[in-house]
Amino acid sequence: MLSTVQSCALRGIDAVNIAVEVNSGERGDLKFIIVGLPDTAIKESCDRIFSALANSGYAIPHTRTTVNLAPSYIRKEGSFYDLPIALGVIQSTGQSYLNDLNEFIIAGELGLSGKIREIKGGLTFAIQAKKEKKKLLLPVESAQEASFVDGVEIFAVNNLNEAVKFLAGQIKLTPLGHKNFLATFKKEDNCLDFSEVKGQESLRRAVEIAVAGGHNILMIGPPGAGKSMVAKRIPSIMSMPTFDEFLETMSIYSAAGLLMAEKRAYFERPFRSPHHTISNAGLLGGGSIPCPGEISLAHNGVLFLDELSEFRRATLESLRQPLEDGDVTISRSSGKVKFPCKTMIVGAMNPCPCGYLGDKSRKCKCSNLDIQRYRSRISGPMIDRFDIQINVPAVSVEDIRSKKSSESSMDMRVRVEMASKIQSERFKFSKNRRNANMSHNEVMKFCELDEKSSVLLETAMKQLCLSARAYDKILKVSRTIADLECEEKILSRHVLESIQYRSMDRS
Ligand SMILES: Nc1ncnc2c1ncn2[C@@H]1O[C@H](COP(=O)(O)OP(=O)(O)OP(=O)(O)O)[C@@H](O)[C@H]1O
Ligand SMILES: [Mg+2]
Repeated sequence: MLSTVQSCALRGIDAVNIAVEVNSGERGDLKFIIVGLPDTAIKESCDRIFSALANSGYAIPHTRTTVNLAPSYIRKEGSFYDLPIALGVIQSTGQSYLNDLNEFIIAGELGLSGKIREIKGGLTFAIQAKKEKKKLLLPVESAQEASFVDGVEIFAVNNLNEAVKFLAGQIKLTPLGHKNFLATFKKEDNCLDFSEVKGQESLRRAVEIAVAGGHNILMIGPPGAGKSMVAKRIPSIMSMPTFDEFLETMSIYSAAGLLMAEKRAYFERPFRSPHHTISNAGLLGGGSIPCPGEISLAHNGVLFLDELSEFRRATLESLRQPLEDGDVTISRSSGKVKFPCKTMIVGAMNPCPCGYLGDKSRKCKCSNLDIQRYRSRISGPMIDRFDIQINVPAVSVEDIRSKKSSESSMDMRVRVEMASKIQSERFKFSKNRRNANMSHNEVMKFCELDEKSSVLLETAMKQLCLSARAYDKILKVSRTIADLECEEKILSRHVLESIQYRSMDRS
């Protein structure tokens, strides 16, 4: 008899439908065959499934049985299909009639005892079940992350017996309620605060603008100026993600298996800070089963590249295209997988190898050639991608000794949240959510300049020989500066401040 169980495969952060067809009672040698492009782990799963069946009181098939994972052109990986295959075997060998099978998407790994084990991608499967208007049957632990998605009935099962009895209508289970923790989530107070940063008013201002509009920012300054210190305090002023952004972040972490490994949800925007020895695959994503890299794990948040000049040039260059497109594509023989990576890059570096070029108190020991070599580690096009480039001078002794505490993160965050709200309203009919990601057409529409500002920008363009990309970036940053003041029109002072943030173009 043939039985079909609906399941899913993970493709990046999306799920695709997979039909698990089991046909038992065929003529021929006693064999259990799995076809439909399964990987080795799936092929080996039959021993696990047989043990689980036997230990749960079911007979293993005593006739030839074929399992087909359809469609066959999609490569299947992971242990999602243990439970669907076992259920298919039980139904097709007539051991139980699972009348509700068609209404469900089912996934789960089986233990030898029949216990159902956690799988990665629970949240992604829930999004797919909602799309397909199906119910979802998952292992207990995976069902927890799935319940962040509303509008889908999710049932959690502990073992094979429980799953069979539930699908046969012998026992009733209560669907898990949707958990919207985001609405009640409160930011922790113990995170690093901007009130500890003395002086550095211009840097604080630039960082606030960058965070408010999602602009890439590059800080260049001598050792000990407070670049890393400021960057580490960025999470304390980031606005809360919207529910859609939260689900996107969670889907990426779910696909990476991090929700499963770390047993926590990510309610805040991510802040990732990889070491400069990171490989291309670690940064962009990779692996035989494509896994999101740091740039995707920072989607809707911040990717902090401290000591930017120490990163391998090729690694930095590989970021260029994804930064422009907002997603990264990983090609494998099994197909292409796309991960989103709309992230804000924060870079920090010294101006020269000794670190003191342009410093008032210490003399730089580097030769022109040293400086040139050092700067050439980061290409012009890469520098061009930083909307805000700021020279950070050493903090003065007066500022360090001052007992006056600086403005707190809380106060800065109020303005950032306000600017975020204005942007949500502006982009409510667009795919884009932040000023930094505006298309050229959106820049034309939302960043109109008056006569005075236009002349100002034109002059700056000519004098600094700015690129067309820099032109758009100046307008985008001006838009954010105006938003921080809740100003509808971009004024000349906004443009002027924005031009100041092209320090690398000026030098
Ligand atoms: N503006 C500041 N206010 C208070 N403390 C500061 C400030 N700037 C630097 N410091 C102190 O100096 C330490 C070093 O600063 P930080 O690591 O941020 O420097 P950096 O600019 O990243 O230097 P490097 O280029 O060497 O990485 C901080 O941990 C902090 O104690
Ligand atoms: Mg540092």
